[in-house]
Amino acid sequence: MKVSGRGLRAVRRGGLTGEALAPGDKSISHRALIFGALADGETTVRGLLEGHDVLRTAAAMRALGAGVERDLTDAGPVWRILGAEWRDPVRPLYFGNSGTGCRLVLGAAAGQGLAARFDGDQSLRGRPMKRISEPLSLMGARISSEDGRLPLVLSPAPLRGIDYRLPVASAQIKSAVLLAALGARGETTIIEPAPSRDHTERMLKAFGADLRIDMAADGRRLRLAGGQRLKASPVDIPGDPSSAAFLIAAATIAPDSDVLVRNVLINPLRAGFFETIADMGANISYENQRELCGEPVADIRARSSSLRGVVVPASRAASMIDEYPILSVVAAFAEGETRMEGVEELRVKESDRLAAIEAGLAANGVATASGPDWLVVKGRGGAVSGGGTVATHLDHRIAMSFLVMGLAAQKTVSIDDASMIATSFPEFVALMRGLGADLRQE
Ligand code: S3P
Repeated sequence: MKVSGRGLRAVRRGGLTGEALAPGDKSISHRALIFGALADGETTVRGLLEGHDVLRTAAAMRALGAGVERDLTDAGPVWRILGAEWRDPVRPLYFGNSGTGCRLVLGAAAGQGLAARFDGDQSLRGRPMKRISEPLSLMGARISSEDGRLPLVLSPAPLRGIDYRLPVASAQIKSAVLLAALGARGETTIIEPAPSRDHTERMLKAFGADLRIDMAADGRRLRLAGGQRLKASPVDIPGDPSSAAFLIAAATIAPDSDVLVRNVLINPLRAGFFETIADMGANISYENQRELCGEPVADIRARSSSLRGVVVPASRAASMIDEYPILSVVAAFAEGETRMEGVEELRVKESDRLAAIEAGLAANGVATASGPDWLVVKGRGGAVSGGGTVATHLDHRIAMSFLVMGLAAQKTVSIDDASMIATSFPEFVALMRGLGADLRQE
């Protein structure tokens, strides 16, 4: 495979040790910007993830009329978002690689009756958007696109509340409908058959919205009255468990490691990866548990571990949906098979992640088996040969996962393109090197 100047190579060099601060949570960062831009007053945001995906959402909020400023203080950057009546953007809204930004802003913009064009990079242009445009169209939104994908055009239309049962456990669909519902006439009811991350619900409440949540016979029921205004509220963003997972995984599989990752969100709807590696025998512990802005947070210590394969049930998928690539790498080092069930959503992430994981593992001497919605990784009991070059398909999590593999494999592991890592975790390479990782430019 051709490796451009954007490639990186990970070399095993002994243990990882030290402390790292997890970067701000990506999901909460997008929401803080969107909520701040919709709210009356000024929202101050601390701990915002300054990755490319989130910066695209910040640019979209500016284009829609909100004030978005970054101040550098002694305690780090503080973002100030001044809410506004949204106006039609002059140019198309471009979301790069970011499904979350694009889908949530589409919902919110539909609720505000705007005209706008939405677009993204090659990866985002390949991802399904019908799952968002369908419920929004049921609410009365006018959205056109050639094949249910980007680019798409939103035209002004008044929205009405709907009763909607989510077809997949997706926080993006749930959040797009809730954001649209804020600007709709009448109440919107959403039934969520399986719970997904609840940051939108928590933030709606923090911004003063009247959201009612109860358990119905067929799932969790959310009810939101239309025509509500949000009130600005400060947001302190905890560290992203999906990013922390790479550091914790590396410490678990590289011999002689002991790493403390500080300030990690441990919301149970996001903590499936930590639960799973604990089941596999990983030596991890939560220290200094506390609350930050209504979310549970801890410092997580991880040490080198002997791991065994496990079955990861479908019921856990939503709570670790972004962590399957790194779990697959961890599973490669375990004794025995790890079977992951109910993972069909991985086919429509930044890449077809099941295919990308299998190809990456095969290139490094690890056998797998898969079906439409399951994956088995045949663990090598600590002895992963490595030596392969992995195609990352514009997918940051594939890139980081296989670099982590290279830190513990017998031979070096290369990735073809590290540039997308900056979409979610710009400090990844520097933080890993700070812990002792040997990552080299190709
Ligand atoms: C996200 C939800 C998940 C996740 C994505 C972030 C969110 O997507 O994969 O990285 O912030 O709501 P789905 O809702 O499509 O599962």
